Amino acid sequence: MAKLSLLLVLLLIFFASSSCTCPHDQMNALFQFKSSLTKSINTHSNESSVFGMDSWKPGSDCCLWDRVACSSSSTKKSRVVIALYLDSIVYIDPESPMVLPTSVLMPIFGIRTLMLLDISSNHIEGEIPGTALANLGKLVHLDVKVNKFHGFIPQQIFHLKYLQYLDMSENLLNGNLSHEVGSLKHMRTLKLDQNLLQGSIPEEIGNLKKLEELSLRSNEFEGGIPSSILSLKALKVLDLRDNLLSMEIPSTIDKLSNLTTLALGGNRLTGGIPSSMQKLKNLDTLSLEKNLLDGEIPKWLFNMKSLKNLLLGRNNLTWNGYVKTMAPMFNLSKLSLSSCGLKGEIPSWISSQKGLNFLDLSENQLGGTFPQWLAEMDVGSIILSDNKLSGSLPPRLFYSISLSVLALSRNNFSGELPENIGEANGIMILMLASNQFSGEIPRSISDIYRLLLLDLSMNRFSGTSFPSFDGAFLAYVDLSSNEFSGEIPTTFSQETRILALGNNKFSGDFPMNLTKFSMLEHLDLQDNNITGEIPTFLSQISTLEVLVLRNNSIQGSIPESIFNLSRLRIFDVSNNKMTGKISSKFGNLDGMIKTPNTISSLPIIFTFSIEFNDLIVTWKKSKQGLSSRSLSIYSFLDLSRNQLSGKIPASLGKLKGLKLLNISHNNLSGNIPSSFGDLESVESLDLSHNKLSGLIPPTLSKLTELSTLDVSNNMLSGKIPVGGQMDTMADSATYANNSGLCGMQIRVQCADEGPPAGAGGGFPGEEQEEAEDEKWFSWEGAGIGYSVGLLSTVVIMYLFDYFAPVLVQVRSTRRRRRA
Ligand SMILES: *[C@@H]1O[C@H](CO)[C@@H](O)[C@H](O)[C@H]1NC(C)=O
Ligand SMILES: *[C@@H]1O[C@H](CO)[C@@H](O)[C@H](O)[C@H]1NC(C)=O
Ligand SMILES: *[C@@H]1O[C@H](CO)[C@@H](O)[C@H](O)[C@H]1NC(C)=O
Ligand SMILES: *[C@@H]1O[C@H](CO)[C@@H](O)[C@H](O)[C@H]1NC(C)=O
Ligand SMILES: *[C@@H]1O[C@H](CO)[C@@H](O)[C@H](O)[C@H]1NC(C)=O
Ligand SMILES: *[C@@H]1O[C@H](CO)[C@@H](O)[C@H](O)[C@H]1NC(C)=O
Ligand SMILES: *[C@@H]1O[C@H](CO)[C@@H](O)[C@H](O)[C@H]1NC(C)=O
Ligand SMILES: *[C@@H]1O[C@H](CO)[C@@H](O)[C@H](O)[C@H]1NC(C)=O
Ligand SMILES: *[C@@H]1O[C@H](CO)[C@@H](O)[C@H](O)[C@H]1NC(C)=O
Ligand SMILES: *[C@@H]1O[C@H](CO)[C@@H](O)[C@H](O)[C@H]1NC(C)=O
Ligand SMILES: *[C@@H]1O[C@H](CO)[C@@H](O)[C@H](O)[C@H]1NC(C)=O
Ligand SMILES: *[C@@H]1O[C@H](CO)[C@@H](O)[C@H](O)[C@H]1NC(C)=O
Repeated sequence: MAKLSLLLVLLLIFFASSSCTCPHDQMNALFQFKSSLTKSINTHSNESSVFGMDSWKPGSDCCLWDRVACSSSSTKKSRVVIALYLDSIVYIDPESPMVLPTSVLMPIFGIRTLMLLDISSNHIEGEIPGTALANLGKLVHLDVKVNKFHGFIPQQIFHLKYLQYLDMSENLLNGNLSHEVGSLKHMRTLKLDQNLLQGSIPEEIGNLKKLEELSLRSNEFEGGIPSSILSLKALKVLDLRDNLLSMEIPSTIDKLSNLTTLALGGNRLTGGIPSSMQKLKNLDTLSLEKNLLDGEIPKWLFNMKSLKNLLLGRNNLTWNGYVKTMAPMFNLSKLSLSSCGLKGEIPSWISSQKGLNFLDLSENQLGGTFPQWLAEMDVGSIILSDNKLSGSLPPRLFYSISLSVLALSRNNFSGELPENIGEANGIMILMLASNQFSGEIPRSISDIYRLLLLDLSMNRFSGTSFPSFDGAFLAYVDLSSNEFSGEIPTTFSQETRILALGNNKFSGDFPMNLTKFSMLEHLDLQDNNITGEIPTFLSQISTLEVLVLRNNSIQGSIPESIFNLSRLRIFDVSNNKMTGKISSKFGNLDGMIKTPNTISSLPIIFTFSIEFNDLIVTWKKSKQGLSSRSLSIYSFLDLSRNQLSGKIPASLGKLKGLKLLNISHNNLSGNIPSSFGDLESVESLDLSHNKLSGLIPPTLSKLTELSTLDVSNNMLSGKIPVGGQMDTMADSATYANNSGLCGMQIRVQCADEGPPAGAGGGFPGEEQEEAEDEKWFSWEGAGIGYSVGLLSTVVIMYLFDYFAPVLVQVRSTRRRRRA
């Protein structure tokens, strides 16, 4: 408050002495806006800040401030504020839940002379303040994208009769598009993309006769494309991508004769590509990818001279051989024919496309070799993964400094990588997984200073020394499933976040130089022959979330320092030679206590859905691939198949975030701690092949997520607990080889007497009395309530934008979890 009143005093002084042309009331409104914004930010967090408002100072002409524009002074009238560029005005840590209330905007709505208002990218939450907005009757341009606006689009927007540009993308609007849209007779541009509008696109959209640009991208519109859209004769850009639109593309789409962009990708459209489309003489972008379109790719498309971007991939379209001999009339910049049933060699007509920058022919059945002509075209992105291409890569390909994405995974390419690969030093993404490449990684690869992602997994690469990547931006390195040997390499960039070296022939101890990876989140060394102890210095990599050391020859006990890794969520040292006790400090691993909800900070996503190589973990008795992208939401502890001894510390029960706990195949003794009943997220619990004794604690019946339990091959006795998921744990093999377990799950009636003498569990004997009344085979009809596996319930959706540059920052990650 003190600050605020000081500000007001300053304002008054300023107003008294000022002779500037900026109207006082407008300057006052701007000061109020700045102060409410600053206040709002400071009460939330110290880390957030306001940008580009330093010049907003008393004593200066507000027409000269940054982010403000006034009417021209040449007019006789005094100057007034007509434009506010308030985009990205605050910085808020993306992980912080902080938002700004819409009330911070209120002062601005008093500036009635505004023609342009841009408040995009500001974490503003609430409904779009319609009534206040109605004051701004002169608005021509309104941009509210990338905020957290929700609710309906206020009707008042539809009365802003001069509005030419309206962008509400990337919010959380969920209302149906109001019928009021129909009254927007003067609106020339309607952009509502990237919200979450539901329902179908109203027919009234057709009333907006002056619309030149209609964008409803990334919403949840259903139903067909309304036929009234076809009456929008002035329309140049129609962008309805990434909705839920179904039915066919209107057959009279040619009525929109001025169309330059027709973007309908990412919907559920069916039917064929209407032939009237060929009359759209100005069409330069045709985006129909990711729909359910079928039929043949029409020949006439190749006569459309104006086309620059042709994206037809991932439909059910088919391709006939006719194109082999034809000379297309267009010069494309982008071409996607992914998953279009292409067979034979890579079509040679592509060589006529002089300005081609993006080529996606993935998921076809293309054979033959990588054509020399394609290598000579200097294409920026070449995506040929999931085909049947073979042979070696032409060195010419790497003379190109335009090459930024090369994705050839899952083909049958072979031979060594060309020595000159580093000449293509603009490569950002190099994905060559699952081919037959062999030999060493060429030295020159370290010249590719822009490399962000290197996936060479599942080939036959070998060698003991690695090129240096120091200084590069390389964040993701996957060399797993090759034949590399020697010490664990540490020549990668310090920026490395994900390092997967599993299933090679690496040996020796952990190198000290691992600690240079100060941003490493994911270290996978499984299936090698690493020896020595887990070094205490590993704890210096405080960012570590996933540490997989499975199936090596690691000895010694788990160092206490590991428990400093507060983000560690997945720790797998199974199948090694670990000795000693399970430390009670495991209970301190925060990453396994909290329900994991972090999103990998890997700064990249792809405009094509190529899976990263999966990390294999042992999940419910079978090895399953977990996509490394969804790994961020799992929490595992696997200490199985070692020589750990002593008692199980009760503190393990604190790890409430764990989905899997496997301490089987050790030499553990004592009781199962009753605290295991607190492992509220655990789905898979394996304690088998130890020397555990006493009762199975009745608390296990609290584990509502439990779907796999194995306590076999111990010395357990007494009654198997009943209730909850325990009723469904009825596989007798998982109780086998113990010292007298009984219960309905294994159809063994418990004796009248209590648990055998010496069982240290000390659970009250009254349990046994209940047992008398039990219906022995009740389990047969028992309602099976166990949880659906996590694997099938977690969906991570990555936003995808063909029109953005191939590599974009992660803008948004939506996740659906178990309801
Ligand atoms: C801001 O920083 C001060 C000291 O630096 C700290 O006491 C306070 O908790 C911080 N506030 C927030 C919201 O982080
Ligand atoms: C949108 O309209 C549909 C019917 O067209 C209706 O079922 C749905 O509930 C509406 N959604 C909202 C948020 O009003
Ligand atoms: C189509 O575009 C041309 C050139 O921009 C323009 O003259 C014409 O008026 C437009 N047609 C309609 C129906 O708006
Ligand atoms: C794709 O088209 C083929 C015939 O062209 C048809 O047999 C198949 O069912 C279609 N698939 C889908 C998913 O529509
Ligand atoms: C394609 O571009 C090349 C080079 O710019 C030009 O020579 C050729 O005529 C163009 N072809 C068409 C069909 O526009
Ligand atoms: C892959 O290429 C090799 C020769 O490099 C060949 O022997 C093999 O049959 C090919 N495999 C497939 C599936 O085409
Ligand atoms: C460890 O890193 C240092 C400095 O980067 C380097 O000089 C040294 O050779 C590295 N040691 C090994 C074994 O790679
Ligand atoms: C352990 O890794 C080796 C390769 O280092 C592999 O051959 C073996 O099958 C792996 N064992 C298990 C149980 O996965
Ligand atoms: C692993 O390394 C040790 C010592 O370096 C060696 O004795 C052993 O044979 C190796 N195991 C395998 C499977 O290569
Ligand atoms: C890590 O843990 C060890 C032993 O528990 C302790 O001595 C050390 O101070 C810790 N280091 C850090 C950086 O917290
Ligand atoms: C626990 O680990 C052992 C040995 O690594 C493995 O055989 C078993 O299948 C795992 N148990 C579960 C439930 O995944
Ligand atoms: C298992 O632990 C017991 C003590 O609990 C010890 O006597 C025995 O040697 C251990 N066995 C192995 C194989 O480590």
